[in-house]
Amino acid sequence: MTQSDAPASEMKADLETMTSLAKRRGFVFPSSEIYGGFEATYDYGPLGVAMRRNIRDLWWRSMVQERADVVGIEAAIITSPRVWAASGHVATFHDPMVDCLECRSRLRADHVVDNTCPECGTVGRFTDPRNFHLMLRTSVGPVEDEGSLAYLRPETAQGMFVNFDNVQQTMRRRLPFGIAQIGKSFRNEITVKQFIFRTREFEQMEMEYFCRPEESLRWHDYWKRERLRWHYSLGIRPQHLRLRDHTSEELSHYSSATSDVEVHYPWGWGELEGVAHRGDFDLTQHTTFSGKTLDYFDPDTNEHVVPHVIEPAVGVDRTMLTLMMDAYDEERLEGGDTRTVLRFAPEIAPVAVAILPLSRNEKLVPPARKVWDLLRPHFRTQYDDAQSIGRRYRRQDEIGTPLCVTVDFETLDDEAVTIRDRDTMTQIRVPLTGLADALHTRLEELRPRVPSLDEIEV
Ligand code: GAP
Repeated sequence: MTQSDAPASEMKADLETMTSLAKRRGFVFPSSEIYGGFEATYDYGPLGVAMRRNIRDLWWRSMVQERADVVGIEAAIITSPRVWAASGHVATFHDPMVDCLECRSRLRADHVVDNTCPECGTVGRFTDPRNFHLMLRTSVGPVEDEGSLAYLRPETAQGMFVNFDNVQQTMRRRLPFGIAQIGKSFRNEITVKQFIFRTREFEQMEMEYFCRPEESLRWHDYWKRERLRWHYSLGIRPQHLRLRDHTSEELSHYSSATSDVEVHYPWGWGELEGVAHRGDFDLTQHTTFSGKTLDYFDPDTNEHVVPHVIEPAVGVDRTMLTLMMDAYDEERLEGGDTRTVLRFAPEIAPVAVAILPLSRNEKLVPPARKVWDLLRPHFRTQYDDAQSIGRRYRRQDEIGTPLCVTVDFETLDDEAVTIRDRDTMTQIRVPLTGLADALHTRLEELRPRVPSLDEIEV
């Protein structure tokens, strides 16, 4: 169903392997590393940035550009604190925490199983649970006092709710319609040991889909399927994905039903994306707290309706980690060597085409750089002439580059180059005149097959 026909049902990479590869190859660096790091904070290197742009672009294309019923906004990160009082975050967005009296670890109370500290193994030596607030606070304006308190947003969603009327009026929208946004969110997370899976600063891609209340269950079902389909389209192996409905104890304060798109990580099934039915909670709360009525006037029936909301919400960072872990492969080669390959779909790979002269020979470098000039406007490229060609192929495999173009001595005579395929390692000879077309065609062939909505089982 996707780009990989590998029969893997378990991921081959653990977090340690992934963290190390990500740093070694310029995807993710620990933040403030020269000062000893800063817990759960990461900087994205050149390849990480390229990959994140790909993820955002693919999300935006499928959620906004290709749709007639969704528009985008970018709201402020620091807003009136009244937004967070209305949304329920001030009152309810906290985790119950306990401290281990033996090793001093601070733990989420629900992560303590059998009254045993997961850090040091001591039994029954904990403080009473206390609520720990998850919103990060800051202060705005010249005086730091009660009145200057503000929060860094813990979700982008509220930006869409408080702008519901602005967007509906200016864009002349009729129900159903959606408002989408990509942007940073912040949470003072306590358990942050899983690399970029859970961090304090992260980026979300969220869409609020406003619909008639009586149609909301149908739209919830639709968005569950559509979002799962999108994750297939990125090339994540189907056996690593599933949809799971939340139990009533798990539901957030705003949600009457939520389904998670879950991934089979090495540590078990975990949330990649939430598809929540938020009902009319948010619009009603903001109407109450702000005094401004947020509803929809239906010109056909002359009725005012408070729309219900379906919200697919996914993290850029978590999507990136999932794609890297899912794509990771170690392949044993003839002769006993092993190569590491990230089997990224072409649209995900930070580099789509690498240009490699066979060696740094002075006759090969100028034509190879000319090929690079030719291809740069069309593809995400990288030029590499350091070390042997075999090592360079391995380096490209390890960062997931689907195709390499090799310029060799024959190129000087026949005006042709070799295209080398990452997954099959086969090579074909292509004239320079048709190179860009040949690469486009091959990348297109490598794209994952995307199932239709009817083929998605929920
Ligand atoms: N507006 C709804 C909302 O924020 P959520 O389930 O808390 O729902 C949505 O977050 C998605 O954002 C998650 O499924 C995950 O992909 C990502 N996410 C949430 N908290 C995160 C964190 N601390 N670090 C990285 N990604 C996070």
